[in-house]
Amino acid sequence: MTAPRKILVTSALPYANGSLHLGHLMEYIQTDIWVRFQKAQGNECYYVCADDAHGTPIMLKAQQQGISPEDMVAAVREERITDFADFHIEFENYHSTHSDENRELSAMIYNRLNDAGYIAKRSISQLFDPEKNMFLPDRFVTGTCPKCGSEDQNGDSCDKCGATYSPVDLKDPKSVISGATPVLKDSEHYFFDLPKFEPMLKEWLHSGSIQTEMANKLEEWFEQGLQQWDISRDAPYFGFEIPNAPGKYFYVWLDAPIGYMASFKNFCDKTDTAVNFDEFWNEGSDTELYHFIGKDIIYFHSLFWPAMLEGAKLRKPTNVFAHGFVTVNGEKMSKSRGTFIKARTYLDHLNPEYLRYYFASKLNSGITDLDLNLEDFSQKVNSDLIGKVVNIASRCAGFIKKRFDGKLSENIDNVELLEEFQAAKPRIIELFEQREFAKAIREIMALADLANKYIDEKAPWVSVKDENLQQQTHDVCSMGINLFRVLMAYLKPVLPAMAKEVEAFLNDTLSFDSIDKPLVNHEINKFKALMQRVEMDKVEKMVEDSKENLVATKPAVSKPKKAKVEADTTNEAPKAPLEADPIAAEIEFDDFAKVDMRIAKIVSAEHVEGAEKLLKFQLDIGGETRQIFSGIKAAYSPEDLVGKLTVVVVNLKPRKMRFGMSEGMILAAGPGGKNLWILEPHNGAQPGMRVM
Ligand code: MSP
Ligand code: ZN
Repeated sequence: MTAPRKILVTSALPYANGSLHLGHLMEYIQTDIWVRFQKAQGNECYYVCADDAHGTPIMLKAQQQGISPEDMVAAVREERITDFADFHIEFENYHSTHSDENRELSAMIYNRLNDAGYIAKRSISQLFDPEKNMFLPDRFVTGTCPKCGSEDQNGDSCDKCGATYSPVDLKDPKSVISGATPVLKDSEHYFFDLPKFEPMLKEWLHSGSIQTEMANKLEEWFEQGLQQWDISRDAPYFGFEIPNAPGKYFYVWLDAPIGYMASFKNFCDKTDTAVNFDEFWNEGSDTELYHFIGKDIIYFHSLFWPAMLEGAKLRKPTNVFAHGFVTVNGEKMSKSRGTFIKARTYLDHLNPEYLRYYFASKLNSGITDLDLNLEDFSQKVNSDLIGKVVNIASRCAGFIKKRFDGKLSENIDNVELLEEFQAAKPRIIELFEQREFAKAIREIMALADLANKYIDEKAPWVSVKDENLQQQTHDVCSMGINLFRVLMAYLKPVLPAMAKEVEAFLNDTLSFDSIDKPLVNHEINKFKALMQRVEMDKVEKMVEDSKENLVATKPAVSKPKKAKVEADTTNEAPKAPLEADPIAAEIEFDDFAKVDMRIAKIVSAEHVEGAEKLLKFQLDIGGETRQIFSGIKAAYSPEDLVGKLTVVVVNLKPRKMRFGMSEGMILAAGPGGKNLWILEPHNGAQPGMRVM
């Protein structure tokens, strides 16, 4: 037996200025599954998080509501603590960056960096709101684009022509907060000397198992050249004042990651815990530290944060695990479409474990986006959890209770099959460990198929009617229950609440260890329905309610897009296509060759009644006709496409859509909506030709 690992795990600290939504939840569910899995392995694992309370948007939002930022943060905290609990997300501690621990740790780290010569000061010129008496972050300035002359553009980029610029270049700039014309004003700022850490960061990048996509991003940033990071903001600012610098505050992103430490410190200091803070944070610590984050905040976690820790003589993260973004029905979550779904709105209609399962069934260790397709969501949950897993128990449990005194047989009917279930354990453990949840779920569902096949073949509902086959019926049903038990042990990190009910039913604790021994001669309890089917009308109701929320709660000043406000323009990498959507992990030629792409001729294209985004196509792929639905309605009129050639993936598993089967995919580029361009081959290509 190896000694249990000591692991500290965090998720990003959500900003304390709004409700949690399903995008956030993906991250906390991903982390929670991983943490529960680690604990199930017998490891000592702690999961901490906190509210990210500081910064200009939070300060302004509180002002708008006429309350103190502290009060606003407190209200948000209460709401999200219940949201998290209701989704079965279990932290060892949920703290706040606006806390004594964080104030002390931030000062300690800053002082160490300052003493070591990593803090520089210089004066910079910025737009200042003379009415509000405050400096304006880029996103709080609008004006006329200096490139194309479009009015009402953001402080840092133009929606019309895509130009990026500094807010001082805007023509006729206006403060979003007061409407006043900003003036340029100088002020002294504090900078963290990031470039000094370049060699260390390069080494860190190559030392561990950093995700390929993250390594690529880092390389890109190194090539662009690291710059000093502006870590101060002038009053008024909701944050911590910098030691010995009256009127200067830490920029929110300086104290935010320190909030991970602060939450853990607060946890360690609780009287009933005997966990040693220093053991986890001192330089040279042999404990493990992992940060789960979204791909939008990689910059802060893989450059600034390790550099700050190194400079302050603390340990660095063992790894940073970034994930992609949640889209709903193939698009960015949208308030008008009702796909910007808050945690609470979801809970009002649906079982949280549906979502935990669905996310798990789609999550991998990379940073590709994850689409929550609501139709697919209900189908997958119904077919996997209800149709496969619960079905095993519900077909066997009744007979055990009614015919065999609620006691499992002393025989194992099919030892080989049970062994096959047990033998999957190391593979499933490895997949959970690697955060390849989708693959783990696939393994588990393949086993569930075997169990159902076994029960189908043995048909206990037939044998039970034959006096001479009572023993066989008992053995088969007991076998079914034992197989179900193994599956539920594997699924326990994903479905903790259902696992609990199964434990009550089985009269047994589910664990990765205990499945080595089947239950024989063991009394079980009455079987109760473990989970209801997902009903599409509830899903639709949830979407409806999400639309209503918009009208009721639309803020006067909308929350500015993150990265843009919260990040410093000097530090922010440009959002070029490769930046927004980095190149995927390298593949072998064989992987590529699996995708069969053909030239296709568009025979017909038409609108689909009731579909917001879809066009329906009939395509000639060289003697065979395919029907395909494609979400390009906003970008094309159907009549413009008929007769043209395009490129289609022809060996994608057909998908049943509300409007019919879709038997392939038309290739297109672009961010979506109106901005989509389908591919068209050069002259001479013929329908049916393979694209290689
Ligand atoms: N406060 C910062 C994090 C500081 S960590 C020291 C922040 N907060 S956030 O509320 O905007 O986001 C919290 C986490 O949720 C981030 O990791 C972010 O990437 C993630 N997500 C927010 N929207 C998301 C989706 N639509 N999909 C997946 N994750 C998303 O960033
Ligand atoms: Zn422009």
